[in-house]
Amino acid sequence: MALSQTAAADILSIDGVTKSFSGVKVLDGVSFSIRRGEIMGLIGENGAGKSTLIKIISGIYQLNSGRLILDGGEVSVPDYITAKSLGIAIVPQEFNLINSLAVFENIFLGNEIRLKSGLLDKQKMRELSARQLEELKMPIGVNQLVANLSVAEKQMVEISKALMLRARFLIMDEPTTTLTRREVDTLFVLMRNLKAQGVTMLFVSHKLNEIKEICDRVTVLRDGRLISVDEVAGVNEEDIARKMVGRTDFTRIFPAKLPRSEGTEVLEIEDLSSGGLLNGVSFTLRKGEVLGFAGLVGSGRTETAEAVMGLRAVQSGVIKINGKAAPIKKASDALRHKLAYLSEDRQGKGIIQGFNLPQNITLISLKGYLKGFLIDKRAETRKTAEYVKTFKIMAASQKMHLRYLSGGNQQKVYLSRWLDTSPEILILDEPTRGIDISAKHEIYEFIHELAESGISCLVISSELEEIIGLCSRVYVMREGKMAGCLEGSHINEEEIMFHATGIKGSIQ
Ligand SMILES: Nc1ncnc2c1ncn2[C@@H]1O[C@H](COP(=O)(O)OP(=O)(O)OP(=O)(O)O)[C@@H](O)[C@H]1O
Ligand SMILES: [Mg+2]
Repeated sequence: MALSQTAAADILSIDGVTKSFSGVKVLDGVSFSIRRGEIMGLIGENGAGKSTLIKIISGIYQLNSGRLILDGGEVSVPDYITAKSLGIAIVPQEFNLINSLAVFENIFLGNEIRLKSGLLDKQKMRELSARQLEELKMPIGVNQLVANLSVAEKQMVEISKALMLRARFLIMDEPTTTLTRREVDTLFVLMRNLKAQGVTMLFVSHKLNEIKEICDRVTVLRDGRLISVDEVAGVNEEDIARKMVGRTDFTRIFPAKLPRSEGTEVLEIEDLSSGGLLNGVSFTLRKGEVLGFAGLVGSGRTETAEAVMGLRAVQSGVIKINGKAAPIKKASDALRHKLAYLSEDRQGKGIIQGFNLPQNITLISLKGYLKGFLIDKRAETRKTAEYVKTFKIMAASQKMHLRYLSGGNQQKVYLSRWLDTSPEILILDEPTRGIDISAKHEIYEFIHELAESGISCLVISSELEEIIGLCSRVYVMREGKMAGCLEGSHINEEEIMFHATGIKGSIQ
């Protein structure tokens, strides 16, 4: 009796699911159930198997053994279309959008509305897309090309696309990595509404506070195995972290802050303007400094970095490097000045999916590996091995193409590429996007080491915690301008949000 009651309460049971790739087990007999109408969190280190499990549920991968039981009956999900017909929708970790199509076309891709005549009902699709984006408080024009969107905007389009399916089981693989707290709040309101309508959700995030806040229960995976399923109310963030990493000596996430740099100003930006998005941006970066850029989505942080890197046309402004005017018109000018930029758009502007680890890492620094006309493969392999060790990059071998690495591990490879250019000024845009909490710690320590060795780091982040924990000076951007510059104890949530929004007491 009790058994059948439990079964009735469950929408989906994952029963002994195992999956291997080329003989390597990435899911090993995973069993747990998701209750109808709950929000289940799914958490685990980079490469733990979260996305693989999600892809099995949504028909992208097939399990090797085990069963999926939906509404009490075993189901096979051979493809994405079947998943959709079963009422399952997914917000994937890596976007699946078509750059050359408009926002509304992407939202309805594969799910088009047609007129009686069989023609596409573009008007209707535009209207519904606009309404959905409005609900997400995302002012994106539905006719805009996806190619022109920022990563956060792309994320919202991907979320809208899944929501449009009106699924009863919604899976979200790290939907919040590029969103600021404000957008996360909006998403959570929406998730609570969906929950009230009876929609079940599986939510992946590396942010423990988000799991605590929005989920009813949390499942922890480690090395492809199930570790625990807990009611969120009964565990604290540290318990979850411990289960994830399998250690009890869980270290502090942020290293001790570096003192304010007294070094010379290596980068001076004066009055930079670009296409209505940047309206007279000025700032300075000192030698060996860890400088932060905070602000809401669309405030101009990424655009500033792109302008400095020669990736965006500017109408006016001066860039000085080491006290001298340095006209940077194109990417190669920036590289020559020893500038490096880790883009927030790892997928679109970063890694090359069909290249292996060394090919991705030495993409820009390749000159340094030439021996005559040939690439010194041994040097490349040696260097790659160093990065693999430093950042604990999880890959079956260096020959693996990047598309087969987990999201967080792809990010680590991308970071390695820029470090390999031996930069003097390193701009990191959302550097820990998709990185698990223990790996974050390693990256933060690394950034501090770089700064101590004299490299100037500019960190753009939507995670206030990261800005506050890491940076010794912080600029806050609003509407394409610097709204404030904070130091010392002024680097706190309240003051950052005040400058970001112009409103006092905007955080709850
Ligand atoms: N198609 C594939 N071929 C080979 N290996 C794969 C493939 N897909 C995933 N893997 C491997 O499976 C393991 C688990 O990857 P998965 O993407 O499920 O991790 P994850 O928990 O989602 O991590 P992250 O937090 O970094 O996104 C990784 O070691 C990854 O390299
Ligand atoms: Mg993943």
